[in-house]
Parts: sequence; structure tokens; C-alpha cells
Amino acid sequence: MPASSRPAVAAVLSAALAAAALTGCSGEQQPTVVDTSGRIEFSRPLVIPPLDRGTVAEDGVREFDLIADEGSREFRPGVSTPTWGFDGDYLGPTLAANVGERVRIRVDNRLAVPTTVHWHGMHLPARMDGGPHQLIEPGGQWSPTWVIDQEPTTLWYHPHPHGETEEQVEMGLAGLFLLESPGTAALGLPDRYGIDDVPVIVQDKRFTDDGGFTLQTRGFVGSLGDELLVNGTLAPYLDVTTEAVRLRLLNGSSARTYDFGFDDGRSFDLIGTDGGLLESPYRTDHVQLSPGERAEIVVRVSPGERPVLRSNPPDLGMQDVLAAVNGGADRFDVLQLRAANTLEPSPPLPPVLADIPRLDPMYAVEERTFEMNGLQINGRSMEMDHVNEMVELGALEVWVVENRMAFPHSFHVHDVQFQVLDVDGRPPPPELAGWKDTINARPDARYRLIMRFEDYADPETPYMYHCHLLAHEDAGMMGQFTVVEDAEAATSELQLPDHDGSH
Ligand code: C2O
Ligand code: CU
Ligand code: CU
Repeated sequence: MPASSRPAVAAVLSAALAAAALTGCSGEQQPTVVDTSGRIEFSRPLVIPPLDRGTVAEDGVREFDLIADEGSREFRPGVSTPTWGFDGDYLGPTLAANVGERVRIRVDNRLAVPTTVHWHGMHLPARMDGGPHQLIEPGGQWSPTWVIDQEPTTLWYHPHPHGETEEQVEMGLAGLFLLESPGTAALGLPDRYGIDDVPVIVQDKRFTDDGGFTLQTRGFVGSLGDELLVNGTLAPYLDVTTEAVRLRLLNGSSARTYDFGFDDGRSFDLIGTDGGLLESPYRTDHVQLSPGERAEIVVRVSPGERPVLRSNPPDLGMQDVLAAVNGGADRFDVLQLRAANTLEPSPPLPPVLADIPRLDPMYAVEERTFEMNGLQINGRSMEMDHVNEMVELGALEVWVVENRMAFPHSFHVHDVQFQVLDVDGRPPPPELAGWKDTINARPDARYRLIMRFEDYADPETPYMYHCHLLAHEDAGMMGQFTVVEDAEAATSELQLPDHDGSH
């Protein structure tokens, strides 16, 4: 997106914030409610991002290549949109690797601007994390390597250059990263990629008349679109040939929260969240995802029917008028499932999916509080050379996240998967009871998270924690932590190389 068509995000957000504080509501802004339900023709087959298992080198390392480059795509026939993508015009391949394997990923930056690739949800050394400190200059290359050491799940990757994340993700730089294991394969879950195991990357967009993407800030959360792309497809349908289909939902949007369900209200099973499978399938008829969150669901269909995955107005925890300005009244048709007249049988789900050892706050060695207020965390904005928190290697910690605003935020932690101990003192609902790396932080709510920082210490390279509403993150609603052998000896000042983070 040319910088000129992009409002200065921080300025617009602060203005919205100030107006709301003064009037107690959204000020002049009239909410424009978007409702595409029942109005979509579902004329295009859902694009399935290519599955990329890389190649296993002689030393046993699974190697991948990703090329970030500019391109263009006709989301509507005859109208070309300038885009960015990995190994293609828009989005990137679905990478897949096995738990226990070492991977190496060669990233080439063919963009005209610096970028990074962050492995969202991955447990890995900070230097491999692809955060704001691992900039890849135009024409440059970066080859991180690490061992996959966590539960099988659905992760994703996206750029993370400080101040530029929203623009780069919106242009199309994002993809899924599937972690697999033989143990999970034995569960008999639908797992044939693109057939009964289907990625569903949901992004809201607004197009200009000449076909470009535009970011238009509305309300406090950031830029909200009025149309959806699913895996880069407008108005998609999916041909379903099996009785059960597993959808790997990723909210790949910058600002919008979705509440996914089906147009006929049917139930489905939630089987996994950000960092792994749930202990057992949870039967529900809706699942809400804020930006960056994932959910795996299994839905059953009957021959010939065409249920529609729909996003109903999400519960943003705000009064109606304010919620409406932030997308809280919007309704979207997302994806039509077209069941064949004869369906291949799918086995029932197993009653037990995973064993989740519960982290016990009794053994926590540290408790930290993260107060989200305005566009800051603990009264500070992101500073590239300042480490906000120093964590001792191996420590089990409780992080208390408090949203002090009447507006939604979210909270994401790099390097770890955490467990939610409680929300406003109450045990977490089933959709927050598994492994998570990102949570929706509701207005005026308090979350206690517990996590362990294992394996990788590096006093010189920080990981990030931040709000995953990308405009907020870019505006500085982010902090840095290091994992260190000796917290006493660690310093909060980082020596930055000259080219690092000074834009
Ligand atoms: Cu998905 Cu720090 O990001
Ligand atoms: Cu991340
Ligand atoms: Cu936020």
C-alpha cells in the first residue's frame, strides 16, 4: 500500500480514543454496519495454499525456501490488485514439519523494503524468531534454523518489522505452518490436506475503485474491511467429499474479531486452539477469534447440503454503539461447504485428543503485570533498545494481563504457549482451556496466564509481547523480554547495530 493512501495510524487512533473519552461514545462517527449474510454467490472454488513439506537434506534437516516478493492478483476477474506474497502473489505456502525435526528456512527478501518473517506460536531461540530485530534488507537473505519442540498444531508466519507489520500483512504476507506428529495421526482426525483438512485464512479487506487494497481506520481497533478474502479467495465455496471436514481457522486480519458459526446454527466440534489439540472435543455452535488466534473445528455434513460458515456479530464486551464502530455489529458469509451427493464415511472423533499437563501457579517463581492502557503496556511504548522484562531460563511465571480500557485489545507472547488460569477470577471457558499464544483481552477484564520459558537463553536478543491488533502493535503497543541464565546480571539496555530499528 503506498504510504500516501494510509492514514497515520497512531494519530487516527489517538483521535478516536480522545473523542470517545470526551463524549463517552464514538463522537460524530456513525457506525456503518456491514452485513453480507445471504448475499454472497459463492462463485469461486476456495484456493488451497500449496502444501510445502520442504526437502530433507542429507544431515536430516528439513529445508524450506520462502521468497517474499511483489505481485498482483485478480481477486475479481479483470481487476488487478497489487499484492505481496511468499512464493507467489498473495499469502504463502502452508509449511509442514514434524515435531522433533530440525528445520531450516531460507527467506529471500525481494521486496523494496526491509521485512522479517516471524513464526507465530513457535518455541525457538530469539535470534530465529523473526521479530523486529531480525530485519532482512531488500535483496537480503535470512536462514533461521531450529528444532520443532512443542505440541502438534496450526501455527502461522508473517512479517514483524516494527511499525510496518500491518501494512505488510495486509499486502498479503502470511501463511500457515503445520506441526505434525505420528501420535496425532493415530487419532484418526481428518488429515488429508485440501480434502478433509482445510486451511481457512480469513481476512477482511476494503478495495478501492481501481482494485487496490486500502486501509481505512474505523473506530479504535484499526482498519476494518467490508469484504472477506478466504485464503485469498473472494466469495469461496469448498467441495466436500467426506462426512466430516476439519477447518483450520486463522484470523489473519489486522483488527477484526470474528464469531464463526454456521448459517443453520449447526454444532461442530472445536478440537484445537493456538498451541495444540484440546483434551477432548468441545461441542459448540460458535467460536470467536481475535486477530492472530487459530481454532481447529470439525464439522459434519449430509449428502448434497450447502451449509455456510458465517461470522456473526462478535461479543467485543462494549456497549452496542461503541461495539458497532469496531465491527461488533457486522455479519459476514465466509465459506460455503458443498457436500457431494455421496460422501466418504468419516470416523467419529475420539473422546480424548491430548493430554495437557496443567501448569500450577503454586510453583510459579514470578508474577508480572501487563496493564494495557491507551496504546501502551505498563505506561510505555515499544523502544527497540529497551528490554522491559528479563526472565530467568526455565522459570514458570504468571503473567497478569489487565485491559484497563473500554476498548478491546489482545495479548500475544512470543516463544511460549501459555495456559489461561482464570479470567476475572473465573476458570477459563473451554475455548481458552488449551494451549494459547494469543488471547482477546476484553475491555476491563483481567487474565491470569501461566507459562514456562524453557531451553533458549540469550541476553542480547529479545522476544516480543504485544497487542495483536496490528495497528496497535505498530503504534508501539509492544514490549520486549529476554530469557537469561542470570536475571540479576542481565541488562535492560540493548546495543543495536546501526541499521536496526531506527526508522
Ligand atoms: Cu503474530 Cu508478534 O506476532
Ligand atoms: Cu508471534
Ligand atoms: Cu490493542
